[in-house]
Order: sequence, then C-alpha cells, then structure tokens
Amino acid sequence: MIYLDHAATTPLRDEVRDAWLGAQLVGNASSVHGAGQSARRVLEEARERVAASLGSQPIEVVFTSGGTESVNLALKGLWSARAERRDAIVLPDGEHHATLDAVGWLASREGARVRAVALEETGRIPVSDFRDALDGSAALATALVAANETGTINDAAGLARAAAEAGVALHLDAVAAAGHVPIDFAGWRGSAPAGAGLVALSVSGHKLGAPVGTGALVVSRHAAPDPLLHGGGQQRGLRAGTQDIAGAVALATALELADAERDAENARLEEIRARTVAELAERAPGIVVLGDPARHLPGTIHLHLPGAVGESLMFLLDQRGFSVSTGSACQAGVAEPSHVVMALGYTADEARQVLRISMGATTTPAEMEDFTTALVEAYSRLTTH
Ligand SMILES: Cc1ncc(COP(=O)(O)O)c(C=O)c1O
Repeated sequence: MIYLDHAATTPLRDEVRDAWLGAQLVGNASSVHGAGQSARRVLEEARERVAASLGSQPIEVVFTSGGTESVNLALKGLWSARAERRDAIVLPDGEHHATLDAVGWLASREGARVRAVALEETGRIPVSDFRDALDGSAALATALVAANETGTINDAAGLARAAAEAGVALHLDAVAAAGHVPIDFAGWRGSAPAGAGLVALSVSGHKLGAPVGTGALVVSRHAAPDPLLHGGGQQRGLRAGTQDIAGAVALATALELADAERDAENARLEEIRARTVAELAERAPGIVVLGDPARHLPGTIHLHLPGAVGESLMFLLDQRGFSVSTGSACQAGVAEPSHVVMALGYTADEARQVLRISMGATTTPAEMEDFTTALVEAYSRLTTH
C-alpha cells in the first residue's frame, strides 16, 4: 500500500515511539511525593520543549487530546469569557469542521452571529477583508495558519496584527501547518493588548508523527478563556484532568524533530510535488491544481478533476493500493461537496470532483511516479466514454 493521506494522519515516528514509551512513568504529576514530583519534572520539561518549538512561554502551553479539543476549548472558552456586548464571531470560509461545527453550535445555542470572510481564489484569507470584519461587535475571530484541504498558507502574522489593532481575540488553527510552517506565537502576537490579538493556537500530535490523542492549545498569559472541563485545576485551570506525561513527551519530540528537519524535508517534498504537478500537466492537461501556487504546504496536492467524481477516483486508486482523500466529509455514505472547494468559487458538482494527495516523511519520488501513472489511468477510465 502507498499511503498518500498524511494530512489525515501520519505514521507514528520511531524516535517519537521510543520517547513516548520511555516516558511511561509511575506517578501523577499533581502528587506531592517523590514519584509525583519526578513525573512533574518530566512533564514540565516537555512543556518547555513544546513552548520553545511554538515560540511561546511554557506556562502558555495547555496539553489537550488533539486538534478538535484545542479548537473547541479556544472558541467556546473565548466566547464564554467575552465582553457582554460582543456577539459576533469572525469566521473565514473553508475552515476545518472542528471550527465550523463549534462555531455552528455557538450560533445555534448561544446566539453568536457569524460573520463570514470570503477566500481568494487561491484559498487565501484576504487580510484586508478579515480586518474589515473585525469591529467592536466581534467577540472573537479564528483562522487557519495553513488550510488542510488546499494546503494554502495564510499570512498568520498579518491576521494577528489585524486582530490586535481591532482589539479582538484571535484563535489560529495551526494543526495542518505545524511541522511544515515555523510557528512563532510570541512574534505573531507582538505587543497586542491583553485579551486581544493572537491569544490561542491549536496543534495536534498525530499530524506530526506523535500518537493520536496528543495535542496542545497555546493560550496567551494575557487571556483567560473559560475551561470546558472542570476538575482538579490542572494547567492553569484551563484543562482539568490528570496530565498525560508520555503524550506530552511524544508531542515535544515530534515538534523538535520537525523543526530540525523542516528545511530539508520541505525542499524534498516541494521537489517531488513540482515534478508530480508537471507530469500531470503533461499527461492529463484537464486536471487543475488548486490552492496557492506560491505559498502552500509542500506535501499537499489538491486537484480538481473535471468530469470525474473524486470518490470514484479514490475507490479506483484504493483498489490499486493508493490511499488518497477527497478531503471532504462523507455523510450517510454520500460524498458531500467540499465546502472548501466551493469557497474557491466552484459549483457543488465541481466540488465533488476533487482529490487531496498529501505526502509525508515516508513518501518517495518513485511512489509518486507510480501514483501519477495510476491517477492518469483512473481519470481517463472515468472520463472516456
Ligand atoms: C486544520 C485542522 N484542524 C483541526 C483538525 C482536528 O484535529 P484532530 O484530528 O487532532 O482532532 C484537523 C484534522 O484533520 C485539521 O486538519
């Protein structure tokens, strides 16, 4: 099997597995006895390493169970702690379902008004339109650092500056970006006033080669979202519950490895990507590469394949041993058109004609050559009548 769905989840890395297993300690980090305190030291060292990787202070790192929890804690927590007169949430089109559905819940249950921001054709969030949406009625705003379907990378610093200037709290979803894009929480936050600008940032371990069930939300020292979980008061009271020390060590290890390898790995993937895109342009010229040609995740290739339903292509490719994604959710067995592709200006029918190929650490040029041949054959089978 050739696995080309690393954006969905990427294999556990050997170095991370070793660090993870090595940190299965006896002792609750909240216990005052020696075993507890030894465990706490390991946990706090992991927190420092995660903070160093994400450009924050250790106290700002809240370990969670992954991206969905982090996003929910940020959005619901910031909403709950908002100033009374603010009732709008600024939501760019094309966000991940964790964000869409959390905001949808806040709209239906809490009366939040959703203020959408349309994307550029490349999938980028236009910073000026984002800025225009941030007024005195905005309780919070959210945005992707990099988009999980198109792979387009946003101007995180520009979005954070706009939020700081407008005095609005911003959450950034860095789940798809982390590893490939350097994350600079303090730099992006700048000298924003308390409670405004970049205040929270989500990452998830299983997108980085750490185990599923690990992740973090960076929460600025200058912000106080309400917690979702109440209990023992761990992690500044923001996320009660006995802390997963081994998971924290695994996340720290995965982030550090990604930092150390980023330049070389991004260049390697970008080269394979460019070759694949050129090959497709020659052999199947109807296929359109979506996203931003200049600023994209190097491992992601998002394709519009006119005349072929993405789900059918995915099944054909699966039979040939290639795992790829349509990128969109499947509800009751029926492929939904991708809301992300529709946000790029495509119709619902066209938004079903997409595939997302996402490469990772294990992907080789030879695999992508085989994949390109299989894709061209499958596409021609579906479109030649
Ligand atoms: C951009 C983005 N945000 C959030 C999530 C949710 O993360 P998790 O799978 O860790 O819950 C994902 C996962 O696909 C994602 O790609």
